[in-house]
Amino acid sequence: MRVIVCENYKEVSKRAAEIVADQLNSKPYSVLGLATGSTPIGMYENLVSMNKSGKIDFSSVKSFNLDEYYPIKRDNDQSYHYFMNEHLFSKVNIKPENTHVPNGETDDPQKECDLYEELIERSGGIDLQVLGIGQNGHIGFNEPGTNLCAKTHLTDLTDSTIEANSRFFEKKEDVPTQAITMGISSILKAKKIILLASGSNKKQVVEELMSDSITTNNPATLLKVHPDVILICDKSACSYYDLGVDIGGTAIKFGVVDGNNVVHKYKVDTNKDSSEALINQIVKEYEKITKEYPISKIGVGVPGRIINSLVSSSNLPFDNTNLKQELSLKTGMPVKVENDANCAALGEALAGAGKEYKNIIMITLGTGVGGGIIIKNKIYHGRGDAGEIGHFAVNYDDDKTPCPCGLTGCFEQYASVTALVKLAEKYANDNKDSLLYKLYKENSKLDGMLIMSAYDGGCRIADEVLNEYVKRLSVGILSLRNIFSPDVIVLSGGITSRGDVLLQKLSNVASLDIPVKISSLKSDAGIYGAALM
Ligand code: PGA
Repeated sequence: MRVIVCENYKEVSKRAAEIVADQLNSKPYSVLGLATGSTPIGMYENLVSMNKSGKIDFSSVKSFNLDEYYPIKRDNDQSYHYFMNEHLFSKVNIKPENTHVPNGETDDPQKECDLYEELIERSGGIDLQVLGIGQNGHIGFNEPGTNLCAKTHLTDLTDSTIEANSRFFEKKEDVPTQAITMGISSILKAKKIILLASGSNKKQVVEELMSDSITTNNPATLLKVHPDVILICDKSACSYYDLGVDIGGTAIKFGVVDGNNVVHKYKVDTNKDSSEALINQIVKEYEKITKEYPISKIGVGVPGRIINSLVSSSNLPFDNTNLKQELSLKTGMPVKVENDANCAALGEALAGAGKEYKNIIMITLGTGVGGGIIIKNKIYHGRGDAGEIGHFAVNYDDDKTPCPCGLTGCFEQYASVTALVKLAEKYANDNKDSLLYKLYKENSKLDGMLIMSAYDGGCRIADEVLNEYVKRLSVGILSLRNIFSPDVIVLSGGITSRGDVLLQKLSNVASLDIPVKISSLKSDAGIYGAALM
């Protein structure tokens, strides 16, 4: 079963109508299975306007409705005959003789049921079946405890259904106690099924539907044996989670995100044997996770270039690998794949230090300099691979700092932590009586944290190193500000655990008219961004 989680009822209705429209456009002689109830009304409204604007044509379509109360007159305004005329049949160009709703006026319900089933068969079977779901899990009027093999039949309604449907009648006693309904086996014969659910009153039953169980106690769960079912539900009807996967050269981080909160996260060592081994590793973890946290979509952040959905990465065994396609085939989930730095920037923009803003530049200071450009809460890709923030030149004729990208004097060559360490080692060697030099010798190398320790210990040389580093960093920050005029610049990377020092020094050297903030999601920004894509 595929799951499409929509923001709200309006989107559920639109998505469902689009699927019906695709069906009619690819097969004008389609046989539709239709449903009543409050849920599909918005879908019918969309279909009516699509028909009016010429986007879909019902002239060759046949329809079979799922059910009808018994007994009931067709002109009773609570009959499903009445409902269908009101919401669809009288408003589109479907031929009345091509529409079928079980006859609630018959004296011989068994004969009506057999005839109905036969008519469906003779029409070639249902191409696309639309279903709602009752609060007790019923589909059509197949109530809990239903017979798995039942075809169209007369059934007693349960108290809970009578109660739920009494809202449409003057009083509960007016609700018919029986109905004619297509059976589970008739429904499962449809080639494709869409199941619509909206509203918090459906949450519990949808939760059961998304669990492992298949039981006649919740008839909708029986749909899981069908190969082509799409559940289209809104957020209020569905406990769903997004899975963010942040693939790194050494570890893959997995984060289960509920709205804007990571509710579960862990990491595993990256299997770099082959692209297949790595993809299978992710699929295996997904399968474990979705047992506990039903997942509705997967976002993946990956280091490297992604051109036309093909991923190539120097740190991973991906070479023109269609990661999106392979993962969605193996998990059955909608999958999005994005550059990892862009993911982190998006995460920070949507759920971190940038969440009050729409236009954000994130600069990640690490071995190199990376980052992402977020415009109106969306990643800016340019032609595909924009956002290489470390690779604009701040020194055009600096032969001493060739960059792997082919330019010289790139921002990365000055603002990365690698550049900071190089600078510190030079200053330390020139000042052998300094604390910085002492730490350098004791550890036989320097790193960001040792430089900060020397600074905290009152070392004048470490202070000078940091002043010089921040001066270089400020050139890039000011340039980015001038080009993009973002609402905020967010700095991330291990060194920003001492963001206090960096921001203080930055305010001494640069007068900026926009805020500069330190990442608040830290190393989780990637999984947030991947999940929230
Ligand atoms: P509802 O009913 O769409 O009115 O919630 C669905 C159903 O009972 O199948």
